[in-house]
Amino acid sequence: MTHPAITLPTLIAHRGYSAAAPENTLAAVRAAYEAGARWVELDVQLLGDGTPVIWHDADVARCSDGRGALNRLTWPEAQALDVGSWFSDRFAGEKIASLEVMLELLNELEMGVNLEIKVNKGRDPIELVDRVMPEVLEALPPERLVISSFDLSALHHCRTFASKKDLALGVLFGSTPKAWRTQCEAVDAYSIHPHWPRLKRAQADAMHEAGYQLLCYTANDPSAFQSRWSWGIASVITDEPAIFQRFLDNQRL
Ligand code: G3P
Ligand code: MG
Repeated sequence: MTHPAITLPTLIAHRGYSAAAPENTLAAVRAAYEAGARWVELDVQLLGDGTPVIWHDADVARCSDGRGALNRLTWPEAQALDVGSWFSDRFAGEKIASLEVMLELLNELEMGVNLEIKVNKGRDPIELVDRVMPEVLEALPPERLVISSFDLSALHHCRTFASKKDLALGVLFGSTPKAWRTQCEAVDAYSIHPHWPRLKRAQADAMHEAGYQLLCYTANDPSAFQSRWSWGIASVITDEPAIFQRFLDNQRL
């Protein structure tokens, strides 16, 4: 049984084009598209009332005009937040994106997504996956979706929603644990997403040999990353897709 027939892109815009627009918003995904990216990485978690939203932090202080834990907000409360002004006045009035509207935009633009199941401290991975997976699997074809997480129990639970051939799962690693192989096998992983500065050449080789795609996060300096392409890295997850693309285009000249 094989994995979905995904054509991985060289560049994946991290939290949308997060160097150019407020991260994890509809505006950031549109900016990524306009910059030429065709895949984005986005984080998903739940509000207090169970609504899945595209958001990274456990609270709203850094990326909105509000304060407090995300999982204490209801949908109307979350919608009252301005999630654009902290980044720039140009994005004043930007609203937090529900998973539902984000999936609509991704389909409208025919973009692929690496959706990260973001299990912040103290949050329940099972409840999160139960809310997210049916909606995502209903909306997106398997060729435009990679679900990833640092949280292995979340990935295990994702796997119960679809088999290897219908759902690509990616395991996120900060530093690669000794048990990486067992952990990836246990969820029938399609890809491994290592923190690129901590990945060693020998680990990358072993991962490729075991059949995994490697998607490295988060690289913003194309010259610093340059030597890693020869390791066979499939995709880079970057805040700076335009800078990376320009660098790669110049290399090819
Ligand atoms: O999925 C790659 C990357 O997003 C993981 O870290 O904290 O940016 O979500 P973080
Ligand atoms: Mg992420």
